Amino acid sequence: MRPILPTIVMIGFMGSGKTSVGRLVARSLGREFVDTDPLVERWARMSIAEIFHLEGEEGFRRREIGAIDFAISAPGRVVAVGGGAVLSAENRTALKQAGFLVYLRATPETLAARLAGTTDRPLLNTGDRVGRIRDLLVARGPIYETAGDAAIDTDRFTLEQTATEVLDWYHRRVGELAVR
Ligand code: S3P
Repeated sequence: MRPILPTIVMIGFMGSGKTSVGRLVARSLGREFVDTDPLVERWARMSIAEIFHLEGEEGFRRREIGAIDFAISAPGRVVAVGGGAVLSAENRTALKQAGFLVYLRATPETLAARLAGTTDRPLLNTGDRVGRIRDLLVARGPIYETAGDAAIDTDRFTLEQTATEVLDWYHRRVGELAVR
């Protein structure tokens, strides 16, 4: 059974707009917004790049579980998780129990364009970024698709338009549940 006031979780690849869209959705619904990446950084007193450097991806993933636990510890929040969070079955289960997962979908080209000039994602520190994004998406795409209760194509949308799509979907879904 889903909780009365479900958490709304933004999932998707780096650069898909999870943080910006999540913030807009939270503001519109009057909900609290929690972004797990900055939470990990604050608690660790290190940047994600430093955590990857000192503790490897494994260390980061351990810390990320703690941030997810916190994010879903109160009902009704809007949550943005890092792009790799739902690769773990445990995280997927925990997030699903808390509410709905919304996948913000985008093509590798869109993602690379949105991420142009950024250097703070250790997994993308490589020469051929689009190639790297494409490779990661081959592995991750099916997981995002399966995990998401909804998937929204964001390529042609502004952040505001994407937020509106999320809100429309959410209201429809909550409405459907109410009449059952
Ligand atoms: C990661 C995505 C990042 C951050 C870390 C790892 C990933 O978050 O958690 O660099 O594995 O996709 P964003 O998706 O918010 O960029």
